Formats: sequence, structure tokens, C-alpha cells
Amino acid sequence: MDARALLRDKAARTEAAMRAYADAWNAPEPLGDAVRYSLFAGGKRLRPALALGACEIVCGDDAPAMPAACALEMIHTYSLIHDDLPAMDDDALRRGQPTCHVKFGEATAILAGDALLTMAFDALADTGSMEAVREVARAAGIAGMVGGQQMDLSAEGKALGIDGLQAIHRAKTGALIRCAVRVGAMLGGATPEALAALTAYGEHIGLAFQIADDVLDVAGDEAAIGKPVGSDAKSDKSTYPALLGLDRSRELAQETVDAALEALSAFGPEADAFRALARYIVEREH
Ligand code: IPE
Ligand code: IPE
Ligand code: MG
Ligand code: MG
Ligand code: MG
Repeated sequence: MDARALLRDKAARTEAAMRAYADAWNAPEPLGDAVRYSLFAGGKRLRPALALGACEIVCGDDAPAMPAACALEMIHTYSLIHDDLPAMDDDALRRGQPTCHVKFGEATAILAGDALLTMAFDALADTGSMEAVREVARAAGIAGMVGGQQMDLSAEGKALGIDGLQAIHRAKTGALIRCAVRVGAMLGGATPEALAALTAYGEHIGLAFQIADDVLDVAGDEAAIGKPVGSDAKSDKSTYPALLGLDRSRELAQETVDAALEALSAFGPEADAFRALARYIVEREH
């Protein structure tokens, strides 16, 4: 099973569904342009692939998770727009293009993020599941991504230990990735056992994903990753490579992926795509 082929397939279908949502928004300009610019700039669409894939593992069909897949990608894209703002990471390149605020100005970029966050919950309502709404709100919010972003900013210039760093990574990035897996599984009608196993998988790959992101910020290629290399050092961020060095960070990412694979041990071939995705997370070049 080829992780890239899986991502391509799920991305194409998620993009078609997101187009349908975006076409109905009727936003005043330049807000509409800014939202479409960031949402359709590419991106790996990992979170949709996880939501759709988890649903497929538990019920053989990914359609019940499509509104949640779209919602997660809207929230993720909003988090990137705001993450790049001058008041946050102050970056000028995203998904291989000028960042939203460079192209449209800060005010419109802030509103584009606000719009994507809000309309994500409009899409999520199409699942008809209050449980899904609550799951996503908590992962995106104070105990999840937004809280993690605050912890990330507060840790600039500080020497954190491994536990503090792990707490940041689990919140700012891990929470939404874990949520993608969980919400997909829930919408597919997962048993409590399957949901617990997939939750553990999501937690491990979520952490591994941000460790790999930190490694790419040091050792990646700007043209390949589509965002600036060295952004973390510029802001004196607390990262895995800064704390442990590149080699140990790569090892730890690999060990975390091994734990993710272990969490899937009760599943058969229906989880092979998720096994491939876990490996891809540390092997990726962008
Ligand atoms: C980048 O996420 C920001 C993090 C949470 C690490 P991705 O690497 O998934 O970014 P895109 O969506 O592919 O652009
Ligand atoms: C961002 O972490 C996590 C988010 C919630 C957006 P980073 O700041 O490392 O993400 P990149 O490297 O800019 O994509
Ligand atoms: Mg950041
Ligand atoms: Mg950043
Ligand atoms: Mg980064």
C-alpha cells in the first residue's frame, strides 16, 4: 500500500467536497479570494485522509466522514494562516506560495482564518453528530491546537525539558491529528475497542508528525517543503532538534511511529493504508 497514492486519492475527493462548500459561501472580496487562495494551495490533506481512512477501516466506506474531513482541513488551514502572521511565526512562504497575509494583508488574513474556523463547524454539522462537533471543538480549541500554539509562543527562548516539549507538540499538532482519526472512526460506528486502538495510533502519529516537522525545519529543502527552512531557529522555538539534536530527533520520531504501528496490531489488512501512512510521516520530504 502506497501512502502517497492513498493521500492523493483522499485529497482529490476532499478537495471536490470543499469546493462545493466554498462555492456556497458567497464571501465579499477580498475575503473569498483569500480563503480560496489558502484552502486550495495544495497541502498534503493528511487530516482528511486520516478521518476518511479511519471511517473506512471500521465500516468499509469513507463517505460518512467526508463533512468532518472537510471541516478538519478548514481548521488546519486557518491554523496555518494565523501561525504565519507577523505576531506569531512571521513567515512569508506557505504551501509554496506567499503566505495569506503577504498576499492579502494582515486584516484579511485574520478574517480568512476566522471564516475558515467558523465555516468548518457549518460543514461539520452535516455529519448530524453532536459527538463529532464536540470532539473537533475540543481538539481545535483551548485544550488542543489553540492552547498548544500559546504554549509554543510562551516557550520561545526557553530551555524546556522533553516533557514540556512533548506537551506542546501533543497540543498544537497532535490534538487535531488524533481527532481526525477519532472522529472518522466514530462516524463509521467504531466499537469501543477499535476506537481505543485508533486513538492510540492517532496520538503516536500526531507526535511523530510534529517531530518530523521540526526536523524538516532544520534539514529540509525549502522548495520541497513549501515553507521557510530555519523558521524555528529564527524565533528561538523550543523544538526536538534544538533539545536533542537531529539524529536523536529522527530516532525518536521512528520510535513513535513504531508505537503507532503496534497500536494497530489488532487490525488486519484493512489497516495497511494506516501502517503505510505512519511510515510516510517520518520518511516524508515535505
Ligand atoms: C504543517 O502541517 C503544520 C503543522 C501542524 C506541523 P502540514 O505539514 O500538514 O501542512 P500542509 O497541510 O501539508 O501544508
Ligand atoms: C504549527 O507548528 C502548528 C500549528 C498549529 C499550525 P509550526 O509553526 O512548526 O508549523 P509550520 O512549520 O509553520 O508549518
Ligand atoms: Mg508555529
Ligand atoms: Mg510556523
Ligand atoms: Mg514547523
